[in-house]
Amino acid sequence: MEVAETIESVRSLVKAARAKGGKIGLVPTMGALHIGHISLIEAAVKDCDFVVVSIFVNPTQFGPGEDFEKYPRPLDADLQVCRKAGVHLVFAPTPEQMYPAENLAWVNVEKLTEPLCGRARPGHFRGVTTVCAKLFNIVAPDFAYFGQKDAQQAIVVRRMVADLNMPLEIVICPTVREPGGLAISSRNQYLTEQQKKDATNIYKSLQQCRRMIDAGIKESRKIIAEMRKILQQVPSIEIEYVSIVDAETLESIEKISGKVLAAVAVRIGPARLIDNILVDAKK
Ligand code: PAJ
Repeated sequence: MEVAETIESVRSLVKAARAKGGKIGLVPTMGALHIGHISLIEAAVKDCDFVVVSIFVNPTQFGPGEDFEKYPRPLDADLQVCRKAGVHLVFAPTPEQMYPAENLAWVNVEKLTEPLCGRARPGHFRGVTTVCAKLFNIVAPDFAYFGQKDAQQAIVVRRMVADLNMPLEIVICPTVREPGGLAISSRNQYLTEQQKKDATNIYKSLQQCRRMIDAGIKESRKIIAEMRKILQQVPSIEIEYVSIVDAETLESIEKISGKVLAAVAVRIGPARLIDNILVDAKK
């Protein structure tokens, strides 16, 4: 496995791999790799002949007062994970490599970035799409892998690729959870054991949503009220949003039909946690 810090060396290594024919896969990450990330890497290794993992805590997607400084950066452990998973190249640039000067060119996806996490994190998705566009330009992959865990991010990036005719395909992989249902996240490290237990109510609320939709309940309002009740059973949970939206447009829906995304964001102690499920409501 190669480890590159510069854009130049990534370009030459990918060029050499491409010359041999075969598909290039990219898994963009911010490191602190866990089994959620590994599931994306495994999908890439299965589909592609040359797999690049980027590890970069992207400053432009963090707002003031967010956890940019304290975000975990265990690079040596991450490299070991990548080596074991069969990655060919890790791109771990410095902030200066990615942003050598004040950044003036931004990629912004409209509408889809307004609801859900966009509301509480202004500028977040602009940072995500800009860094993804940069990574896609640097690596030029055929496929890039994203997790359903960050549903809005995956939808926004897919739309950027479609609207800007970027020559790659976005592959979205299922959310990996702990046995109790908590979606695996690098930010779970901020939680105590008790807070991790408390956080299992997030997935419980989503399962309640699925049960109610499966039982034929169509009013989002009723379902959201039940989901909130489950979250409110735990005093340490502070709800940011509980939403049921169209799975493609992310617009709020009152009467459920077709494919919907149920999404939750909460704060527990020092962590902001998000989770979601897709539900296909019978007509
Ligand atoms: P990061 O939070 O490191 O996540 C990298 C990728 O792993 C994302 O596509 C995310 O959805 C996926 N992922 C995280 N937890 C997962 C889980 N439990 N199951 C499945 N997939 C999971 O998301 C980012 O980094 C950044 O915003 C990035 C796209 C790298 C741009 O900076």
